[in-house]
Amino acid sequence: MKTKIVTIGASDSPESVEEKLACAGIIIRQGGLVAFPTETVYGLGGDALNPESSRKIYAAKGRPGDNPLIIHIADMAHLDRIVSEIPGNARKLAEAFWPGPLTMIFRKAAIVPYQTTGGLDTVAVRMPVHPLARLFIRKAGGYVAAPSANLSGKPSPTLAKYVVQDMDGRIDMIIDADGAEIGLESTIVDVTGEVPMILRPGYITQQMLSGVVGETDMDVTIYDSSSPQTPRAPGMKYRHYAPKGELVIVEGEPQKVVRYINEQTALHEAEGKRTGIIGTQELLLEYHASIVKNAGSRSDADAVARQLYTFLREFDDEDVAYIYAESFSEAFEDKGFGQAVMNRLLKAAGHKIVRV
Ligand code: TXA
Ligand code: MG
Repeated sequence: MKTKIVTIGASDSPESVEEKLACAGIIIRQGGLVAFPTETVYGLGGDALNPESSRKIYAAKGRPGDNPLIIHIADMAHLDRIVSEIPGNARKLAEAFWPGPLTMIFRKAAIVPYQTTGGLDTVAVRMPVHPLARLFIRKAGGYVAAPSANLSGKPSPTLAKYVVQDMDGRIDMIIDADGAEIGLESTIVDVTGEVPMILRPGYITQQMLSGVVGETDMDVTIYDSSSPQTPRAPGMKYRHYAPKGELVIVEGEPQKVVRYINEQTALHEAEGKRTGIIGTQELLLEYHASIVKNAGSRSDADAVARQLYTFLREFDDEDVAYIYAESFSEAFEDKGFGQAVMNRLLKAAGHKIVRV
């Protein structure tokens, strides 16, 4: 399949943007697939109400069929049609955080095919805030099923070039535009129960959610990796975001972390293995490896989040065999956005963590 790559930038007039997205919308209505930017990561879109489109999405990603898709909408009025009930807490959360990086799990309406929900009776819905995503969804008929636009197991793409790397030849169109500024996937909250339950941490934190609805719960597997329970979001059970090299997280006092990482790096490099480091601004000058990624300041989870997946992809391109990352678990403690960053880093590392 030939993939059409359509660039939308500052030089496009509103009419030209409209025209390009109208073309993209027609592709979706006709059962094709289009990758598009959102404020979190790029999505791989298809018509959510067409079972054949969902089947194509799974095939393009190489994704297991039991891992359900998120339906993206652009207007609150469209929610009714795909869910069987809108609980009070969901209304409050939608008012506070939609459009934005929040996905909610509802009981599905009959019109939503099981191919889209991975066989579940619930459906995930998100209303993104990215203006191109919103216009695209409207042009596509209002209901766009979209997982992240990566091959299954790879980091979610935050730049169009990574979508091209994974999806060229597999889908009909890729919209190349800026704007995946958050860099990590949306927060997922199940609103079908009495107390909203966080299934995947993200930019909208537990504190922010509780500020709106009072009590909230969190899936135990998010903060306790030794829990025997299965994650409630089917996708969270897979090892995700894995770089080709072996990634290890190093936790401890800063000076000990630096010493350990420098020792390990020296050993690997002596064996001729390329080694990379993800370090924070504060410690950056103390590392000796040839490939050191600057994750920004320790206190700035936003900066780390924005760049994390790019770093993991760059390490692959640079043929790095070993990767060491500083831990961000202090950020984890305060239950802020750092928790989401640490959650993704732990998954990428297959939970390999060294305490020094
Ligand atoms: O930010 C995002 O959410 C991005 C952009 C493109 O919107 N999308 C995204 O989709 O991350 P995906 O498919 O990569 O991740 C969706 C997650 C998976 O872990 C899936 O198992 C979970 O949502 N999910 C979807 N429907 C669900 C449901 N009915 N119940 C529980 N988990 C569900
Ligand atoms: Mg994904």
